Amino acid sequence: MILTAEKLGWKVRGISILQNVSLDVEEGETLGLIGPNGSGKSTLLKLLAGILTPSSGHVSLQGQAMARMSRRQVGQTLAFVEQQSDTFERLTVRDAVELGRTAWLSALRPWSAEDDRIVREALRQVDMSGMEKRSWHTLSGGEKQRVHIARALAQQPKILLLDEPTNHLDIQHQLSILGLVKALPITSVIALHDLNQAMTCDRIGVMSKGTLLAVGTPTEILTLDLIRDVFGVTARFIRDTDGSHLIRFQSIQ
Ligand SMILES: Nc1ncnc2c1ncn2[C@@H]1O[C@H](COP(=O)(O)OP(=O)(O)OP(=O)(O)O)[C@@H](O)[C@H]1O
Ligand SMILES: [Mg+2]
Repeated sequence: MILTAEKLGWKVRGISILQNVSLDVEEGETLGLIGPNGSGKSTLLKLLAGILTPSSGHVSLQGQAMARMSRRQVGQTLAFVEQQSDTFERLTVRDAVELGRTAWLSALRPWSAEDDRIVREALRQVDMSGMEKRSWHTLSGGEKQRVHIARALAQQPKILLLDEPTNHLDIQHQLSILGLVKALPITSVIALHDLNQAMTCDRIGVMSKGTLLAVGTPTEILTLDLIRDVFGVTARFIRDTDGSHLIRFQSIQ
């Protein structure tokens, strides 16, 4: 298993936020994480990224306990795009994406033409080529989001963790970012609110009240009962002309 969580728990000031989450992420899959506001999706992603330290249980990367790996080793394996990311206030777009190369650089391995190529390619993938010299503070919300994703891509991780990456994006960029993530030959875990978008993931994990309620294929997971129980809305499936299904929602009266 490329990424494993075993009985993860996280407490803050004695209050339990996440309980007993075990998860095996398979190499190459795109795993969608869904769940209502406050259900623990961001907390789980931060634990998987090593940004939070579990109160119980542990995370393993490629069979190795994350707690025993250096920041540099983790950075060469895993990249994380946070929901509310740090800003790069004084930086240009180009500088921000170059930060993605940090885990790969050292005195023996200084910046090279290859790093330039990787940074340019990451900017191209998120459709931000040509904006390299722009200052961070002049960017729109969606452009900032795309720069964060480019920074993570420039890291060339084996595992990409994304917390609501399509949040600020227009529909064209939502589809292109999700298409890009699915096409990358790497493992991705991606928190999403749009259940129709989650339906296109290889598997879905459902968070509810700090626990991982279920993990499985979209058809196993996205049942009308589960949507009602977890999200408190009624849903129905509509078949599109190409045979695929769409979910429509209604609030429970
Ligand atoms: N540092 C903290 N101190 C206190 N409570 C916290 C802290 N971090 C998270 N929580 C609480 O833990 C719960 C889970 O938060 P989390 O951010 O993981 O939810 P989420 O599923 O990502 O929600 P959303 O869909 O709104 O992003 C929330 O009720 C939140 O208020
Ligand atoms: Mg969140």
